[in-house]
Amino acid sequence: MILLTGGLGYIGSHTAVELLNAGEDVVCLDNLSNSDISVKDKIKQIVCKTRELTDDNFKVYIGDARDYKLVDKIFCENKISSVIHFAGLKAVGESVKLPLEYYDNNLISTINLLEVMKKHGVKNFVFSSSATVYGAAKSMPIYENFETGAVTNPYGRTKYFIEEILKDVYASDKSFNIIILRYFNPIGAHDSGLIGENPNGIPNNLMPYISRVATGKLEYLSVFGDDYNTHDGTGVRDYIHVVDLALGHVKAVKKLKSKCGLKIYNLGTGVGYSVLDIVNAYNKVCGGKVKYKIVGRRPGDIDICYANADKAKKELGWVAERNLENMCKTSYNFEKKNK
Ligand code: NAD
Ligand code: UFG
Repeated sequence: MILLTGGLGYIGSHTAVELLNAGEDVVCLDNLSNSDISVKDKIKQIVCKTRELTDDNFKVYIGDARDYKLVDKIFCENKISSVIHFAGLKAVGESVKLPLEYYDNNLISTINLLEVMKKHGVKNFVFSSSATVYGAAKSMPIYENFETGAVTNPYGRTKYFIEEILKDVYASDKSFNIIILRYFNPIGAHDSGLIGENPNGIPNNLMPYISRVATGKLEYLSVFGDDYNTHDGTGVRDYIHVVDLALGHVKAVKKLKSKCGLKIYNLGTGVGYSVLDIVNAYNKVCGGKVKYKIVGRRPGDIDICYANADKAKKELGWVAERNLENMCKTSYNFEKKNK
């Protein structure tokens, strides 16, 4: 079985679906701090079309990845072969106000998991890292061997520190297989409209904000700056469909089985879109409901960020296949269903 910490969250739930569809058995551990228990049934509803799910092949534990006793119990009760560690806090702005909560949650959960894994002789680990570890890269696209660590906020630093911890753990014990996945900007939702990104309160990220404007929950989008050095002056990012990202994890789990050692991969599309590109694409699918105003820059934002994802293509056999129209359509569909 594969243990997914944060398995009821946005990326974790889509990954659970794709792993189950691929025939893997899944255990999720989630403390529901940013998700809802109803996601468990939604995963079941999606997967039951391809496979019968029972307590033997899909389980959910509610609790904290920092809880040694609980994680140990999960390893005692299930035959865990690999861990994918999604659980963590992820809001950049909040991390500036609550640095200790971010270091505690993100770092301690990782150390705790690795300790329990060592105790049980489980050595396969996939970590959810982020393009944020590159900071403001000197050139585009970004390759995996670019310098990391020049991050500008505590959230980003937790990702950078955890990457360094994982390198040390691997250096001390080469029987570990560790895959660090650096995600670019995941957006979109499952085709069913049952699972997607559903942040509490006012969204910080672009796509959930746009979706709430399109469905009338928010009035207009504030576009943070139109004076960046990009084709239309608004910030450019590498948006990747969450289902493509989830499929990247299925490939990573396969790679772990080949005893790969420590590997790092960018998961992105290699294409950058601006904020206005996204607004225009979304307006095509929702009939022009996304109104926006240009406002000042958001502190800490960079002008441009996109991946070179050739390494994942070559070594994992993975490429992102879903286009921007699909990302907008599925986001809109999910938002309407969750009105
Ligand atoms: P999410 O908040 O939707 O999912 C995280 C899940 O982990 C939630 O269900 C939450 O309840 C749970 N959780 C948090 N702390 C926990 C703990 N201590 N124990 C157990 N469960 C806990 O976030 P997501 O977008 O699915 O992100 C998943 C991972 O990917 C995170 O580590 C995030 O930092 C990373 N990441 C996300 C993005 C993005 O833009 N979404 C980009 C790069 C990296
Ligand atoms: N933006 C707006 N208005 C908004 C929200 C965002 O104009 O209301 C703009 C931003 O200025 C930026 C772009 O939309 O140019 C994307 O912003 P997001 O907040 O959606 O994403 P970021 O690239 O800032 O950061 C996200 C995650 C980070 C992660 C990073 C790379 O929040 O945690 O992607 O994976 F590290």
